[in-house]
Amino acid sequence: MLEQLTGHEDPYPIYERLRAHGPLTRDGGMWVTTSHSLANKVLRDRRFGVRFADGSYPANSGLLPESFLELDPPDHTRLRRLAMPAFSPKKIDEYRARVEKVADALLTEDEFDLIADFAAPLPISVISDLLGIPDADTAEFADYGALVAQSFDTGVTAAMADANDQVLALFDRLISERRKTPGDDVISSLVAAEAEQKLTAAEMLGTLVLLLVAGFETTVNLIGNGTRALLDHPSQWKLFKANPELASAVVEETLRWAPPVHLTSRIAHEQVDRIGKDEMITLLLGAANRDPDVYPEAHKFDVMRVHKPEHLAFSSGIHYCLGATLARMEGEVAFRALARRMPDLRQTGPVTFRDSVVIRGMRSFPVSRS
Ligand code: HEM
Repeated sequence: MLEQLTGHEDPYPIYERLRAHGPLTRDGGMWVTTSHSLANKVLRDRRFGVRFADGSYPANSGLLPESFLELDPPDHTRLRRLAMPAFSPKKIDEYRARVEKVADALLTEDEFDLIADFAAPLPISVISDLLGIPDADTAEFADYGALVAQSFDTGVTAAMADANDQVLALFDRLISERRKTPGDDVISSLVAAEAEQKLTAAEMLGTLVLLLVAGFETTVNLIGNGTRALLDHPSQWKLFKANPELASAVVEETLRWAPPVHLTSRIAHEQVDRIGKDEMITLLLGAANRDPDVYPEAHKFDVMRVHKPEHLAFSSGIHYCLGATLARMEGEVAFRALARRMPDLRQTGPVTFRDSVVIRGMRSFPVSRS
């Protein structure tokens, strides 16, 4: 059934058909779950990991250098720890004023594309800043992020391989610059850790590329999907405009109802109930987020809903999104800026969707300020 999923159509009817088979089912030779509680359990269970017993990683784009997203403990733990300080709630709070400035500066046109002109440039500018990527290189990194996200679904094309080489060369250059002149950015702190032999040069590159791509396309779709949900639900948009302190509730309900990342997978390191050693299970995060056992009226977009337990848009367990605090803050800032500066925002033409079943969102969303 999962092979019927496309990037542009509504996946939820397919999720519901799978749900009818129970919390754990087999589809196309793979285990699948639509259940919030089972997905959460698997993600937190140390008998599951991201690698097969022979150490190999399930085929992905093959484009990215290896990162800790693709590693099991103890390497995952060691590398994640090195990247963590840059994403602490205190650090992210220090960024808020800067993000507000960027959001305001982007919202100046009367007619614009909400994705290309707002949702995309905001996280690109934030993550470039956080990584210490100079403005001159930001556009190149942005194109790269988009190509990599596309490669999750289409496989590697010549253009992607080319962009990959260029970006790795750019990172190499930035790393050698920081070795000579350290700054207050993630590259500098990883360079310092490398000097203390806490990670290898290849691991540093893998970590930097992960931070770059993980923060691009995901946050774009949080902002895009949330804005569309608000405009499609006028009473919720009105409620939010009257109560801007609901920004964080809008973010949470968007993450639950229209999450940017719809699925991930794990591999059993030993037999766990019906799942055999080295067998894979697909965790349909998008379906888990609409599990009626957890969320009453799960298909309803309702910013006043109580999110207990938390949705799985950021996954769960040891790979829980490292950028969650940053993404939440960017979403809050973006939705508040739109509500304040563009209270009469409206859609002016048809949207187009990305061609991806993993990362879901729009490619274009034409809007007008009035
Ligand atoms: C709304 C925006 C975002 C969403 C929905 C999202 C979602 C996710 C998900 C689902 C995972 C875990 C995948 C798995 O368990 O297999 C993940 C991991 C990760 N995310 Fe995010 N993410 C977002 C934004 C960001 C941002 C802004 C950053 C940082 C710049 C970031 C950095 C990471 C990293 C480093 C990991 C790997 C964590 C690990 O393996 O320990 N993410 N994200």
